[in-house]
Amino acid sequence: MTPRHETSVVKQNLAYYASARSAAEYTREDGLRPIEQQLIAEFMPPPPAGILDLGCGAGRTTIGLSRAGYTAIAIDLSLELLTLARRRYPHLDFRQMDATELAFPVDTFDAALFSYNGIDCLYPVAAREQCLVGVCRVLKPGATFIFSTHNLVGGICSGGYWYAFSPSSGAIPFCANGTHDTKTPAASNFSTARHRDEQSTNCGARASA
Ligand SMILES: C[S@@+](CC[C@H](N)C(=O)[O-])C[C@H]1O[C@@H](n2cnc3c(N)ncnc32)[C@H](O)[C@@H]1O
Repeated sequence: MTPRHETSVVKQNLAYYASARSAAEYTREDGLRPIEQQLIAEFMPPPPAGILDLGCGAGRTTIGLSRAGYTAIAIDLSLELLTLARRRYPHLDFRQMDATELAFPVDTFDAALFSYNGIDCLYPVAAREQCLVGVCRVLKPGATFIFSTHNLVGGICSGGYWYAFSPSSGAIPFCANGTHDTKTPAASNFSTARHRDEQSTNCGARASA
């Protein structure tokens, strides 16, 4: 499948996610990390709510959500990682889909998760905005989108890399230890012109390439 934004950065990211190194990296873990468990407990409705798991990779978070009792639908652009996910967890719902082009009806999900700074792979900045708009469209009113992102401002001010976003309250930043980050402006959660190139190097690709 061809991503909507087929920039050189996106191509490099996809090549990275198709590599043996990436397969090893994303099959190393199995289940939710403590900070993810904490934010899910705080911001997501209780199981068996329906969760959209964006950028699921080899299914680490999807199995974690499922074990917690949630009904997860997981999407990723990388066929290679999806193949691993399906092999590891054949009973779960994995779909190849671009996070900037979500093919779900309006108001489908009770919450959404984009873990492990996956949203930083979306490039250019307009792609991240399209992802946010799309997530808001497929979330039920008032639902929350939890995601992490490499953010220089957040990192320098507080170590905050996690955000819980809802259309009504905007983005609430969290420190890496899960405490609310009161120092970083919520508006800094997405790239400014100054930071977007650094953010897009997250997955091993340079924006200038
Ligand atoms: C850092 S990995 C995280 C994988 C998984 N969530 C984990 O924590 O193990 C980011 C994931 O985002 C996926 N991704 C990148 N661009 C995407 C896009 N446009 N749409 C959907 N997934 C994308 C990559 O294929 C990769 O699996």
